[in-house]
Amino acid sequence: MQKLSPLQPITHPLFAHYQVKVSIKRDDQIHPIISGNKWRKLYYNLAHAKTKQLKGIVSFGGCYSNHLHALAYACQQQQLEAIAIVRGEHTSQNNYTLTWAKHWGMKLNFVDRKTYKLRQNLNYLDALQRQYPDHLIVPEGGSNQLALQGVGRVVEELEQQCTYNSLLVPVGSGGTLAGLIKQDNNRHDILGIAVLKQSDYLLNEVNTLLTNEKAYPRWRIENSYHGGGYAKFTAKDANKILAFSKETGIPFEPIYSGKMLLAFLDLLTKGYFTTNQHIVLLHTGGLQGLAGLIEQGKLSANEWALPPAPLVW
Ligand SMILES: Cc1ncc(COP(=O)(O)O)c(C=O)c1O
Repeated sequence: MQKLSPLQPITHPLFAHYQVKVSIKRDDQIHPIISGNKWRKLYYNLAHAKTKQLKGIVSFGGCYSNHLHALAYACQQQQLEAIAIVRGEHTSQNNYTLTWAKHWGMKLNFVDRKTYKLRQNLNYLDALQRQYPDHLIVPEGGSNQLALQGVGRVVEELEQQCTYNSLLVPVGSGGTLAGLIKQDNNRHDILGIAVLKQSDYLLNEVNTLLTNEKAYPRWRIENSYHGGGYAKFTAKDANKILAFSKETGIPFEPIYSGKMLLAFLDLLTKGYFTTNQHIVLLHTGGLQGLAGLIEQGKLSANEWALPPAPLVW
């Protein structure tokens, strides 16, 4: 039987006060490098590339991308070529994320914002496929139908681990949320916390991935907790996240899991959850992103534990 990621109960005075039970599904502990939703989303993409005897994978991301970091390592392990279309400048190629990606053999093609915006354009993708005829093109964040299948495993695991009422997850490109909704098939309330501003865009992405959106009425995206936009956060919010990490011993970062946490705490105090509910937070990993935030001076290395250096290379 495949190993399940741990489901950890969290005790906190707030949870006792509001009479809810809270647990966190520690997908961040799946693997030191391919952690969280990356493992879930890449699993069947890599298997597909291997079965079809493709040469490698082409994908997209920013210069601090959790997805590219994990993809680089996963491809190296599977003897697949990894090619990245990176939004940004060559100057970022020596940051923590991309240094490791290069170390694991990923080829980096830097493009400007205008070109990067074409990443879902069919003509652009056709041309890219012609350039890499023996490669699987995987969208930004790894979010495609194969990813949904992998994310579905989270729901299967939870079924074996507990009974619960609501599941919370951070939303970036929508693949993780869509995978949970599909596999859950209306058995629980699923709440996505948008980590970026364009909530219409996100809704659209999730609905497109679900193909039959009307079949799934029990989910929604909460869009008031993006904190100003993607990767934006205030010092006050970062401190709150850090304090919660210290109280519970669970590491969070302020781009994805931390925003979900702050949203959850705020919604709880606003009475969003009824008493006696069991709420599960999905920890989607991404702790390598802390290194980039420290490098950019957005977080202090003294306060935030540096992400675990990759244990395997
Ligand atoms: C750590 C982490 N959590 C959550 C997300 C959001 O997942 P999705 O892009 O599938 O919405 C991402 C981005 O893929 C991520 O890197």
